[in-house]
Amino acid sequence: MIPKLYRRVALVTGGARSIGAAIADGLAAAGAIVVVGDLAESPNHRSIELDVSSEESVVSVIDRIVADHGRLDILVNNAGIMFEKHVADQDRESWDRMMAINVTGPMMLTRYAAPHLATSGMGVIINISSLEGNVCNPDHAAYSASKAAVQGLTRATAIDLGPETRCNAISPGWIDTPLNASYVDSHPDREEVVSQLSKLHPVGRIGSPADVADVAVWLASDESRFVTGQNITVDGGRTIRPPLPPIIG
Ligand SMILES: NC(=O)c1ccc[n+]([C@@H]2O[C@H](COP(=O)([O-])OP(=O)(O)OC[C@H]3O[C@@H](n4cnc5c(N)ncnc54)[C@H](O)[C@@H]3O)[C@@H](O)[C@H]2O)c1
Repeated sequence: MIPKLYRRVALVTGGARSIGAAIADGLAAAGAIVVVGDLAESPNHRSIELDVSSEESVVSVIDRIVADHGRLDILVNNAGIMFEKHVADQDRESWDRMMAINVTGPMMLTRYAAPHLATSGMGVIINISSLEGNVCNPDHAAYSASKAAVQGLTRATAIDLGPETRCNAISPGWIDTPLNASYVDSHPDREEVVSQLSKLHPVGRIGSPADVADVAVWLASDESRFVTGQNITVDGGRTIRPPLPPIIG
């Protein structure tokens, strides 16, 4: 049987570790030729150094992929950062950095990938947003705003680049990666934190990078051919249950 992404060329930003690495693995397992664009090097896939906040770097990586492989079929905008800052202390510099990496990067990659995706005949963009595009933890003004922007960019891209290219977002919930480790590690008993977090999820556990990757592979494939402009929540059901006060919950 021919693998469902056989010989399609994919760029996964931030694919050197965690969610991006799992997406790169998943796409490769489905037959795609995967290139990781990251500040760091991927241990498992071809890597090209990429800083998504630099337009020059974005242009050079896309040019190299097309020069080397003759095409680009799948763009996964996964690279992202997160920090905590109360909105009343939010300085311009760190706000701009969050937007440059989480929003402007995906927009620039979309812009420069668009002509190649259009000629592919199977062009797909997957943007990694977050639950925090819809809900918000304390001190996450910049992160939450950036992830809401990614959802808006996803809808706009689906409209502007259709019918040649489909574009969808995935909004992961709590996925066990270094990005959110500071929460878990701020408590001496990691297992207890994970156990309490798990109870907030109808599926009974927090997520793994592979949980996100499987959805990304489906969105990259023709099996999702009538799906575009959507934001798919991958959170183990956590946000379908509004919290009750502990006294009755
Ligand atoms: N972990 C979670 O619970 C969670 C939940 C929702 C959304 N997300 C989103 O998923 C994506 C991946 O998160 P993760 O947990 O795997 O993060 P991570 O910090 O473990 O990995 C991020 C990767 O992006 C790369 N990166 C950072 N800045 C970059 C830049 N300027 N240019 C290129 N690469 C850069 C890093 O080198 C790293 O390899 C992010 O967009 C994040 O916001 C994560």
